[in-house]
Amino acid sequence: MKILLTGATGFLGRRVARLLAARGAALRCLVRPGSDRAALAGLDFEAAEGDLTDHASLERAVDGCPAVVHLAAETGPAPQKRLREVNVEGSRALARAAAKAKAERFVYASVLGRPRPWAAIGRSKLAGELAVREVLPAMVFRCAPAFGPGDALACPLLAGLRRGWFVSTFTGQGTWKTQPVWADDLAECLAAAAAGGRAEPGVRELAGPEVITVIDFWDELARALGVARVRVHVPETVLRLGGFALARALGRRDCLRLAEFFIAQTTAENNYAPVLLGRPLTTVAEGVARMLGQTGGK
Ligand SMILES: NC(=O)c1ccc[n+]([C@@H]2O[C@H](COP(=O)([O-])OP(=O)(O)OC[C@H]3O[C@@H](n4cnc5c(N)ncnc54)[C@H](OP(=O)(O)O)[C@@H]3O)[C@@H](O)[C@H]2O)c1
Repeated sequence: MKILLTGATGFLGRRVARLLAARGAALRCLVRPGSDRAALAGLDFEAAEGDLTDHASLERAVDGCPAVVHLAAETGPAPQKRLREVNVEGSRALARAAAKAKAERFVYASVLGRPRPWAAIGRSKLAGELAVREVLPAMVFRCAPAFGPGDALACPLLAGLRRGWFVSTFTGQGTWKTQPVWADDLAECLAAAAAGGRAEPGVRELAGPEVITVIDFWDELARALGVARVRVHVPETVLRLGGFALARALGRRDCLRLAEFFIAQTTAENNYAPVLLGRPLTTVAEGVARMLGQTGGK
């Protein structure tokens, strides 16, 4: 089956691309003209140059593809207008192009939990989800924060711990619950949904096996690294007003993404990942050990 994958150069997309190819899918990837394609080296795929903001390019890309996996998104802090153009209107346009091309399967990676009112990226992703569902019966997967080599979650925290950060959390008391999912597991779920046998539209949740607090997550990283740390709790309002401004001023995109990940409840009521995976999910401890073994956590 020919599958159009958007966001193939990204953190999840590069994993999904290889898994789809391993499943024998003929892969067409929507790539921006300036995209760094190094992560796709050695992969047999057809590149469709385009951009979510160039709607004609989406029609060309989807033509002849019965399945679409839509992962591309503006995931860094960006002006509201840009988030809307890419994550909402771009997703809507891709869904319209897929419907016009009579695609049978449309997979959309959404976010798990209800983003806080100021969490612009998460809100735009949910608005994109709605836009897609208005156009066609999609397979929507609301995904928990994913961790693994190259992520925007554990890697910056590990780097911070190595540097001896003493502020432990972005989350006030750090009691928000989350269910971090190993990135390879999440990618496998998305690939199975796109290329597997059953293709039922609907909204499902994909998450890791453990419900933990942000402090638990950070503790696991510190334990794996064997470093001690001091916890300083920053009230959420202080963090939001001061920390965000500072992160923005310093251009620390990873901090902003982390904050959006963590200052919200991101747990699944009905985790569909074990169904798609058909094997036990990787635990946080297992994943972190693999990260440190594979990449030293960089
Ligand atoms: N990672 C997570 O923990 C997580 C959790 C929940 C949901 N998700 C969702 O899963 C998807 C993939 O996440 P990720 O972490 O892999 O993101 P990522 O690493 O930031 O990758 C984003 C991808 O989107 C592409 N892209 C950005 N703007 C584009 C545009 N205007 N036109 C076409 N392509 C564009 C990027 O291409 P370039 O290479 O050209 O920049 C890149 O391939 C996203 O939709 C995200 O919201 C992720």
